[in-house]
Parts: sequence; structure tokens; C-alpha cells
Amino acid sequence: MVGIAFIEKMLTLDEAKRYRLVTCGEESHLAYNRVALTDYFQHRSVEKLYLNQVEWYTQQDPEHFLFHTGERVTSLNTVAHSVTTSKGRNISYDYCVLATGSESTLPPYVSSVKAERAQGIFVYRNISDLDKILSYSEQEHVRGGRAVVVGGGLIGLEAAKAVFDLETISEVVIINRQVFPLSRQLDGEGGEIVLRRIEAMGVRVLTRTSVKDIITSDGVLTGLSLSDDRYLKAEMVIHAIGITPRDDLARQAGLKCVEKGGIVINDLLQTSAQDVYAIGECASWKDNTYGLIAPGVEMADILSFNFTQVETGLGGFKPRVMNMPDLSTKLKLMGVDVASFGDYFADKRSTRGVLTSKVAVAEPLTRDKAQKAIDAKPTAWQISPLGSTPGNRVKEGEVAINTVTTDMKHGSRRAALDGPIECLTYRDPFSCVYKKYIFTADGKYLLGGMMVGDTSDYVKLVSLVKKKKELEEPPSKFIIGSGSKGPDDGADLDDDTQICSCHATGVTTLSDLKAKTKIGTGCGGCVPLATNIFKAEMKKAGHAVSNHLCPHFGMARQELFSIVKIRKLKTFPEIMEAAGVKKDSLGCEICKPAIGSILSSLYNELVIAPVHHANQDTNDKYLANIQRNGTFSVVPRVAGGEITPDKLIVLGKVANKYNLYTKITGGQRIDLFGANKQDLPDIWEELVAAGFESGHAYGKALRTVKSCVGTTWCRYGIGDSVGMAIHLEERYKGIRSPHKIKGGVSGCVRECAEAQSKDFGLIATDKGWNIFIAGNGGSNPRHATLFAKDVPPSKVFRILDRFLMYYIHTADKLMRTARWVEQFNGGIERLKAILLDDELGVCADLEREMGELIGSYADEWKAVVNDPARRRQFRQFVNTDERRPQTEVIKERGQERPADWPKQLPPAKLGESVIVTPKSEWEWRKLATVNDLMPTDDATTSAAVKYGDSQLAIFHIPRRGYFATQQMCPHKRAFVLDHGIVGDDLDGNLYVSCPLHKRNFRLTDGKCLNDEDFSIIPFDVKQEGDNLLVLLPDSGNLDAVIGTSKWMVKQATAEVSSRGGEGIEIAGVGMGPPESGSTCTGGQSLCSGGNASLDW
Ligand SMILES: Cc1cc2nc3c(=O)[nH]c(=O)nc-3n(C[C@H](O)[C@H](O)[C@H](O)COP(=O)(O)OP(=O)(O)OC[C@H]3O[C@@H](n4cnc5c(N)ncnc54)[C@H](O)[C@@H]3O)c2cc1C
Ligand code: SF4
Ligand code: FES
Repeated sequence: MVGIAFIEKMLTLDEAKRYRLVTCGEESHLAYNRVALTDYFQHRSVEKLYLNQVEWYTQQDPEHFLFHTGERVTSLNTVAHSVTTSKGRNISYDYCVLATGSESTLPPYVSSVKAERAQGIFVYRNISDLDKILSYSEQEHVRGGRAVVVGGGLIGLEAAKAVFDLETISEVVIINRQVFPLSRQLDGEGGEIVLRRIEAMGVRVLTRTSVKDIITSDGVLTGLSLSDDRYLKAEMVIHAIGITPRDDLARQAGLKCVEKGGIVINDLLQTSAQDVYAIGECASWKDNTYGLIAPGVEMADILSFNFTQVETGLGGFKPRVMNMPDLSTKLKLMGVDVASFGDYFADKRSTRGVLTSKVAVAEPLTRDKAQKAIDAKPTAWQISPLGSTPGNRVKEGEVAINTVTTDMKHGSRRAALDGPIECLTYRDPFSCVYKKYIFTADGKYLLGGMMVGDTSDYVKLVSLVKKKKELEEPPSKFIIGSGSKGPDDGADLDDDTQICSCHATGVTTLSDLKAKTKIGTGCGGCVPLATNIFKAEMKKAGHAVSNHLCPHFGMARQELFSIVKIRKLKTFPEIMEAAGVKKDSLGCEICKPAIGSILSSLYNELVIAPVHHANQDTNDKYLANIQRNGTFSVVPRVAGGEITPDKLIVLGKVANKYNLYTKITGGQRIDLFGANKQDLPDIWEELVAAGFESGHAYGKALRTVKSCVGTTWCRYGIGDSVGMAIHLEERYKGIRSPHKIKGGVSGCVRECAEAQSKDFGLIATDKGWNIFIAGNGGSNPRHATLFAKDVPPSKVFRILDRFLMYYIHTADKLMRTARWVEQFNGGIERLKAILLDDELGVCADLEREMGELIGSYADEWKAVVNDPARRRQFRQFVNTDERRPQTEVIKERGQERPADWPKQLPPAKLGESVIVTPKSEWEWRKLATVNDLMPTDDATTSAAVKYGDSQLAIFHIPRRGYFATQQMCPHKRAFVLDHGIVGDDLDGNLYVSCPLHKRNFRLTDGKCLNDEDFSIIPFDVKQEGDNLLVLLPDSGNLDAVIGTSKWMVKQATAEVSSRGGEGIEIAGVGMGPPESGSTCTGGQSLCSGGNASLDW
């Protein structure tokens, strides 16, 4: 069993195909499940026990795996590095792994000759043994006879049940030397319950006795003589008194073995011979052999990991070493559920308890002594009354469960775990249930326990013991059950209440809600939550809830993604034509970025390509994050947060040169703020020359993979978290997704990288990486969910590839992984089935698609730097090289930053009518060339121009021509409108959406479509040859209304505002003709030149 476990692991882990595995199995069958051997009595089909079906073997590449059955290895030559087999084959090896298991131990009174020759004597280890038992039981002289099983341990009870179920056997007797069965797993109370259950079935159990000899007549078993001089007639006897490791081959080859049996191995599972390893029951580690499957599989795990993962350089893993295995077991024996877990005999040994003679005397036990004590005959032991308290007197020869409380005063975890203990027991003789749980004396930690009759809590309790976590409930709850916790009591109920009140206002669409409440028109962080609550409330109110992308597409993002993919659509107009509600619509600020992201996720073409550029939100459009003063921040990738001093110096120099504010981000990189749009290409050029590239801080894409220092420096580190984080960041960089993605990698459970608050997080274990998914910080935090445990480094990428690609395929627009997983139909278990077990058969496609995305990566900054035409798009004004700051800059803590926005800004309704010069006197003024706008047939384009102190935005819309508006968004007085997405509604009304908080202004009349407090001034534009002319008043009068200095945000205004805002109202803007004869002039003041009514 352990051999095949090792092979399976090698086949999956050895992705580089460095090994060829050649296996010889002495049994004539393919590898089968020995643990389920007893089932063979029911179905008599070896195939049903096969651990892998025949097809699995035929599917393997013979260059990498060969399996010879019915072929025993007869000799091992460790010098020649070869083995010979019973079929005369000679196989040379680089490494030899022995997994020869054990054989059933025969008692001294049965010589191997006797066992061979006498009829009716059996052991219970393999299919052949069972076949022999079955065919013998059919013999005439056996039919209706008695079968005796010697040994009341795990295998003995398995054998007893098997023969008990045989129709040919009329009586089964178990002979057990101890007072109760299963003495390796249970104490007296538990064993007694099992004994009762067995006897209730009709199986006799003779305790405190053993077999002296077997009696035969003419070579046929007739009975047994017992140590108490009784004679027991028997037709067959099955010996189940223990197992002996099969070290015969190793011994012959001169490998070091222990006297009692077992091939000596070290922590790396190496035997005494070069390149020879031993795993499973045949191996003796630290003088221990293990007769359970779990430790053997653990060895297979360690060895395959060391063979395949240690030299790969992925994650810098050291070879794994053998640790004390967990011997927790859960069995169903003779129809009784039995389990023992953790330190289930903690009460019997060690410094925690006291072995007594007459009165309790503390005598520390070594591990050896303790083990011997456990192995010793239980007849010499009685368990003292459970839950004994300190000072209890115990009878001679008893083991006291004694507690010593002195070292618990300070109650440290370590002291608690190593200190005295207390037991809690539950015994229900009516339903044959017994439980004993062992806790530290303070009741804060569970150490181990045993269960009979009800093992339903086994998994939960094993994990509690393994985690060594402080218990959140009192010990008694574990025995009597904690009851159902009920649903979480709604942290979001308050939000619901607020949404409900909206019903009364007749709000039935999210955009209505936004317009009415201005929700989502600030930072936007509340939008996903608000959307969910809104939908839930609408559903409750009986409204049909639409998850359509926007008015332009009558479907959700997921559906649209499939259509684009299946029909291989490549541009926004193609998609609108194929799937849009109105084939010639321009789209809007919702569907354009969503489709831009879908196209990127599928084809990964440069977002700055002309055909895609107009779909991008401002940040993606300028490959930098727009800040509140209209400048941008530049965040180069610093994969895994690791950066050389030279690169740090470059960042410092660039920041100095362009006067950038610097700050270290939460994602472990350096953010350079305050870059003017026109400087971006030059800044990038310097960064690219120093080896930097875009960090995609602006994109709905992978941001960072945060890491701790891990094994690079940390004394606790188990995994190379920095190396892994860099690898992951390099792998997924530039991949666009429904929302931003963040990763984290911690080198051990201390979790310094906070990986569990990320979309994907890795935490190193000694076996690989635990993968967590769907963590989230932000406004609605979520602790990540453990998705896969102990994943070898080479498998991490595959799982993450699938996870991320599936998320990209199926999440709604702007949905973080946390919300996606929460709303995923079938939850995390279904997601595991799809992504880990490939239940839908999509994993290969997901991996391939991710591979294509990774392969198509190109640095976006470099693409701009190297293309003069694209560089031109970054000019502040296309008609002059003059620069115009947008906001006053103030100094704070040694760096510059934009002045605060005033707390309260009054409404600002601007319109033609506030300009002193009547429109009839306006003139056409040449402000740009056609070339400046770079018009295309597929997408809108825009540019800013300067006219006097005023700034204007000019837009080109395919098939609709040119439009112009003021550049300033009146909401926060930001000069940004040329960066906004241009869209239309289903009636064809064109509007520009402010990039900062998405107020939408109609291009034809300047009306704000989603906030009645604001409006802007539109201007007429016409093309004359290569020139673009705008109809404008003289610049002085226009500056008086929309001049930059007039509206520029200044700190003094903010301070006035914070003191109550007196005097900063815009009186009467847009409410009528402006007053003339202002006495104030220019600049930022509480009244300013030209029109006092516009001052604020
Ligand atoms: C009836 C029964 C019930 C069990 N129930 C449980 C249980 O509930 N839980 C649990 O944890 N464990 C249980 N076990 C124990 C578990 O089956 C073993 O721990 C496990 O099978 C050990 O695996 P292994 O590979 O080390 O040995 P094996 O499974 O014995 O495999 C060793 C193989 O090597 C072959 N071999 C030996 N020498 C050579 C050679 N020279 N050349 C070629 N082949 C050779 C043997 O024939 C054998 O097929 C049970 C065992 C039995 C018999
Ligand atoms: S998580 Fe913390 S303690 Fe663990 S390796 Fe990383 S830095 Fe060290
Ligand atoms: S600045 Fe807020 S919407 Fe334009």
C-alpha cells in the first residue's frame, strides 16, 4: 500500500519526468487496499479492492512507470546498485525504495514448518490468506465448526468479524491475553464497552488467557490447549497476535536492521546502504515501527517530495524529514465505531501522571518507559477513577490520573501543553457509548482522547489537537456537544434597513439609487456591497432582479464573457454589434471598462492600442492612478517586495527630479505621487532603463504578492516565501480580471505576510504550501478559506492558474474573489470539486488559457516609452507645451501634496448664460488639429486644450463628430473631463463621465445626468481642413467663469470650509445673468475676478 502511494505521488510530482519507476510486487495482484481486506469476504472481488484500476496502469507511460506483479525481489546488491527477482530479472537502480511491509507474527508454538504443513492454521494479512481461509471453511469437516481467533487487537477483531459472517462457521471465539480487546487503542472502560458489544453479537471472548499449543490429528487442527489448562476444540485458528516487519531482503543485503524486526532508517528515510530507502511497515525509525497506514503514507509523501521538489528551486524547500507521526485511528470493528486520537494515553504516562506503589509518588517517565508502560500487560494496570483530582489516593498497582498544578500559575501555552492534565469522560452503557477526552489542567487545550460507539466528532477533535489551538469552548461542551450556533447575527442588518427605506421613494434600479442617494459616487468602495444589498432587497420586495451588465447589454458579465470567447470577438464595436441591445451604441462607463477587461483577459492585447484605449477607465488609459488633483501616481513592480539598494536609489532620484511624493504601499512597493500626465512617459523611461516595469497599480489586475522574508532571513522560516512571491508575481503580472487581485506568501504559520487577507495566499508548511483563497481586506473584509493543504511547490501554480482563470471566467463585473466565492453556487466544496478534482473537466482548458495569458505579457510602460505617437497622447494640452497646475500644492511632513478638498462644496451649475459675452459674439477659434485628437472609426478619443487661463476638453465620437466642454468637473473642481469615458444612453444622448466620481455630463447641453447640483458648459466644435475650431467668447470673459486660477483648489478654502464654510457659497451660478462690476480680481479668494456670483 505504501509502495503504490509513493508511486502515485512520484508520478504526479515528478513533472520534469526525471525518474523512471520500476516496481516489483510479490503478490499476483495489482496494489490493493489492505485496510479494506475484510470486505473481500463479502464481495470476493480483488478488483474491488484495487487502489487503481487496470486502466490506470495502462495509461501510464512505460518510459516512466513499470509494474511487475507476482515477482518477488530475491536479492539486493547495494554495491552494483541492482536487484534480482524471482523471475530471474536483473534490474539496476539509481535509488532503491523498499516497501516490503510486514508479515503476520506466528507464536513460538507454531513453527513455520507446522504452519505450512498442518491444516486449519491461518494468518490474516493478504488476499492469499483470505482465499485459504475461505476454501478451508468450505471443507466438510470444518462446516458448522468453530473458528478461533488468537489476538483481540485490530486485526484479530477484523478476522473474527470476517469468519463470524461465514455461513460455514457456526461459532467464533476470540482469545485475548488482556482483560479487554483493543488495548493499544483503548483504556479499560472503552475496551469493556467493545467487549460487551462483541459478546452481544454472539462471539465469545476468552480474556486473561493465551494459547499454549495447537493440537492436530493427522496434520489437521482439532483444538488448542490454553495457558489455564483448558482445552478448546477448534476447526480452524487464525493468528492475529501482531506483525513482524519484512526485512529479510534487507538483512540479506547487509542493511542495518533492528533485532525485533525493521530496517533502520534515518530522518530522511535512508537505510544504512547508499541510495537505498525504506518506507512503510518494514522501516524502523528511531526504534519505532508503525502498523498503521497513515505513517507509511507520510513516509511516501516525504520521500517523493524530497526526490522531486527539493532540487527544483521552487520555493527553496529543504528536504523534509520524518517527524513523530500522528497515530490517531478511526475504525469500525465488529460493527462498533472506535477511535483514538492525539495523545490518547496521556493520562497513563509521563510527568503528567504518577505511577504509584502505595500512594501517589511523582516519577517522571521517559518516552521509552512510557511506551513500555503502554505496551505492558494491562492486567497489571487498572485505570483509576476518571477525573481524579489532586491528592486522590490510589491503590497499589494502579495508575493515577493525577494533576500537579504548581507550574500552571503563569499559564503559558507551552506550560499548559507539557503540564498536568485532566480527563473528561462520558459513559452511556445503554447505547454503548464511551468517550474520554484529555485536556490540559486549565481546560484550554485538548491533548487527545478515545471514543467508542460515537466517533462523529473525530475529525473535528483530531484537527483541534493537531492545531494545538486554545479552545474557544469549555471542555464540557466537547463531551456533551455545543449545540447549534445558528446563523450569524447579521452585521449587515443596519445596511438593509437603510435600503428598505429607499423602497418608499420608488427606487427600483441601482442607477436610480445612485442618483438619489449618491451612493457609489464617492470612493466607490461601497458599490459591490450596496449592489448586493440592493438586489436582495429588491428580490424581497418582489421585483425581478436583473444582473445585466448595463442598459447596453441585456446579460451578465459571465454570459458576455462566454459570447466574446466563443465568437472570438476582438473589439468593442464587434461586441456591441453581436450582443448589444442597440448595435451602434457607444457603450457607457460601466460596459466599456468591463469589456476592456474581458478582452484583456482573453487576448491580452495592449490596453493602449487605439482600438482598446477608449474602453479603459482613466487609470488604465494613462497606465497610472489618477489622484484627486488630476495628477497621477507611479508604482513600479517590486515583485515580492524585494528590491536592491541600487533600484531604491533610482526611485529616489526619479522622485527628486520630478518632485514626487513617496510612500511605501501596503503591497510592499513604493508609490510615487504627484506626477503630471505629461511627465509620465519620461518618468517611465528612466524607470524602465533601470530595470523597472509597470506594477499595474492602476488596473483591475494582479497588484502585488506580498511576502515575509521566510527562509531568506527568518529563523522560523520553513518555505522561501520571497522566492515564491516573486515567482507568483512574475507569473500573473499584467493579467486583467473582474477586479484587482492581491496575493500573499508567508514562510510559516506565523503569517507575517497576512496571506489570509488576500485573494490568494500561501503559507509554508513542512510539506509544501497551504493555499488559501478569497481573502479580502477593504470595506467588507473576509478571512481567506483554506483551499488545499500541503501542496508541493510544483503544484501550487497549477491550482492557482485554475482558480484565477475560473474566477476571470465566472465572476460578475467588479466582483472580488471574496464575494465570488461567497456567492458561488455550491460554495467552496463545489469549487474544490471543480478546481481540484476536475469534476467538470475544465481544468486543462483553464490551465492552457492561463498559460497563453502568461505568455502574452508585455510591459505597458515600455510600449509607450518606445512609441512617439503614444507619448504625444500624454501632453497636458495639445495646443501648447505650457503647464498648468490644477490644485495648490502644500508642504507637509517634508513632502508636497495637493491642498485639501474643502469639506463641503456647494452646488455649481455652470452654463453659457453665466458668460458675460453673448453667444452671438463668440468666435470660432482654432485650438487643435485633427491629428491631435487621433480620431478612429472604432473608438472615441479626447484631448485637452488651453485657452487663456481656461481649459477645455475636446472629444471625437465616431460617426457623430467633435464636441467640446469645459475641462473642469464642478463636483470637486477637478480639471479632468478629457480623461473621462464617453458614452451614450439608449436614446443616443452623448455624455462624458467624470473619472473621479462618475458624474455624467451631457455633451450637448452640459446637464449632469446623475446629480442635479451640477452642470457644465458645452461648446460647439467644427472641423476645417486639418484644424479643429471651437466657438468661444474672448478669453478674459471665459476665464472669469471657468479660469483655472479661479477654480483651483486652495488650502485656505479648505480651512475656511472646515471652520464652517461661511462665505464660500457660489451664489446664483446658472440661476440667471451674472452680475457685473466685480471688485475682486483673479486668483483664489473668496471672491474673484469678473463675476462675484461665481466665487466660492
Ligand atoms: C486486515 C487488515 C486491516 C487493517 N486495517 C487498518 C486500519 O483500519 N487502519 C490502518 O491504519 N491500518 C490498517 N491495517 C494496516 C495497513 O494495512 C498497513 O499498515 C499497510 O498495508 C502497510 O503498508 P506497507 O506498504 O508498508 O505494507 P503492505 O501493504 O504489506 O505491502 C507490502 C507489499 O510488499 C510485498 N513484498 C514484500 N517483500 C517483497 C519482495 N521481496 N519482493 C516483492 N514484493 C515484496 C508484500 O507481498 C506486500 O504486497 C490493516 C491491515 C490488515 C491486514
Ligand atoms: S511568517 Fe513571519 S515568522 Fe514565519 S517565516 Fe515569515 S517572517 Fe518568519
Ligand atoms: S470630481 Fe467628483 S465627479 Fe468629477
